[in-house]
Amino acid sequence: MFSMRDSRETFVNHAFVAGYPVKHSRSPLIHGYWLEKLKLQGSYRTHEVTPDNFPGFIQELKSGQSGFIGGNVTIPHKEVAFSLSDRPDDLAREIGAANTVWLEDGVLHATNTDGIGFTANLDQSAPGWDGIETAVVLGAGGASRAVIQSIRDRGVKTIHVLNRTVARARELADCFGPAVHAQPMEALSDMLPGAGLLVNTTSLGMDGGEVPAFDFSSMRPDAVVTDIVYVPLKTHILAQAESQGFRIVDGLGMLLHQAVPGFEKWFGVRPTVDSALRQLIIDDM
Ligand code: ATR
Repeated sequence: MFSMRDSRETFVNHAFVAGYPVKHSRSPLIHGYWLEKLKLQGSYRTHEVTPDNFPGFIQELKSGQSGFIGGNVTIPHKEVAFSLSDRPDDLAREIGAANTVWLEDGVLHATNTDGIGFTANLDQSAPGWDGIETAVVLGAGGASRAVIQSIRDRGVKTIHVLNRTVARARELADCFGPAVHAQPMEALSDMLPGAGLLVNTTSLGMDGGEVPAFDFSSMRPDAVVTDIVYVPLKTHILAQAESQGFRIVDGLGMLLHQAVPGFEKWFGVRPTVDSALRQLIIDDM
């Protein structure tokens, strides 16, 4: 007689989300949901670490003394996490920031999952979105960088990045090469004709300021309009696009999907983003 082992290799590991402040993070809810659903014994918890203490925190992690296998890193530690990691992958290197780290044979690996979270969300919520040539991205901050990287990697040939401060858009365009074109925000109506994807990565409308009336009618009829902001779920831009008959995708799915690769690294099982998880976060908002 022989006993068969479960072919799925699982681990009892412990992971964290480190930030400052970190209380508002919804990551513990997401990973807690998956741990319970998959009946795994690991843990995931918030860890508030000041900028002064962050290098020491990473040192302890690398030494194996912290008891953590890895975790998520959020504001303001993403750039430092990247530079202190032993083995950042290409995604983290191009962005210069990491949001996910894990230990493997004493080596601290790092990646940035924001971009693949963005495209995985589109794949799930707007299948077929990627057969497009041209995309328009509003904003030129850290989130925009991840979005641009991910849609370029999925074959979008022309990406117009529009920003209030056009110099920041130029910086992004210089870093990503010929597919990415910097434009002032005022050029929006000239950039929309024929575009198949519009992404808002700015906080436009969140600071109480007025949101302009957008006319999306020159975009492809099957175009997708998406916002990475998820509070509220239906932002001003999404509401306008929907009323004009376009497919819309809210930003909550990006938050959920960016968590998938980390969970798989720390706990050995690839989780899925389902409607119950989405509802759990909505109920917490
Ligand atoms: P994140 O990491 O979330 O991208 P960020 O780096 O602070 O955050 O970037 C915020 C983005 O929102 C920037 O593109 C910013 O434009 P500027 O570079 O000109 O500051 C944009 N943004 C913020 N408030 C805005 C507003 N009221 N109107 C238009 N753009 C705005």
